[in-house]
Amino acid sequence: MEVIILPTKEAGSNKAAEIFKYCIRKNPSIILGLATGSTPLPLYESLIQNYTDGSLDFSQVTSFNLDEYVGVSPNHQASYAYFMKENFFNHINIKPENTFIPYGKAKNIPDHCKDYETLIKDKGGIDIQLLGIGTDGHIGFNEPTSSLASRTRIKTLTRQTIEDNARFFDGKIDDVPKHVITMGIGTIMESKHVILLGFGKNKAQAIKDTIEGPLTASIPASILQTHEQATIIVDEEAASKLDRCDYYKWVYNNRPAWQRGPEDLCPKK
Ligand code: F6R
Repeated sequence: MEVIILPTKEAGSNKAAEIFKYCIRKNPSIILGLATGSTPLPLYESLIQNYTDGSLDFSQVTSFNLDEYVGVSPNHQASYAYFMKENFFNHINIKPENTFIPYGKAKNIPDHCKDYETLIKDKGGIDIQLLGIGTDGHIGFNEPTSSLASRTRIKTLTRQTIEDNARFFDGKIDDVPKHVITMGIGTIMESKHVILLGFGKNKAQAIKDTIEGPLTASIPASILQTHEQATIIVDEEAASKLDRCDYYKWVYNNRPAWQRGPEDLCPKK
């Protein structure tokens, strides 16, 4: 696990953007795993800027999103399909047919989930999986006590996640769907490189538990302790509860010269 602590959300997002840009340029047909929510927005803005100035090309990139609300159509403003179009896909030259998001209106959800897993495998697997983190330690929508071996499936959100996400439904808690389709923890763990972003004070406990807590299904993100290549990028606020904060900074600031470029953070497999 590499822990990168930077002063602000902006600096953390820039670091993530640097890695993504380098890896997309190195492998133009890269398979990206993408997330929604507030956390990745500055990263997406930065990638859009580079597409607009002609320095980044998404024409061969494929993407798989982590999750979607059940029963919500892709045209609904709170759907993750809509979110991705509004905040990223509509502003770059990724081919719509190369962007995959679980379909919230699928008639047969278990079959749809199986097909999603098969598609990821058929495309060659995810090279870089971007993750945010829930205040309860969830990744994707794998809520606490999700099986650490789980695959793409339907999940029921916790009350806390419903409250956290009510902001995307005009603050109306009752409008937030209770069910979601999410890549499983086992699915996420098969990505070659995982980059988790955590910003702000309200993520501090989840980040502490993820990095320094015991490995437990009660904090799904703690499974990343066992991933071969997981990079956790946090700002000072999200790092504020870490016991070994100084050590992580020491490690980062004393990297050997050959580990200092973004190339070292590209998928190694
Ligand atoms: C979103 C997702 C979730 C979010 C998490 C944090 O696709 O999978 O795990 O990353 O809920 O959300 P924000 O970034 O809004 O704090």
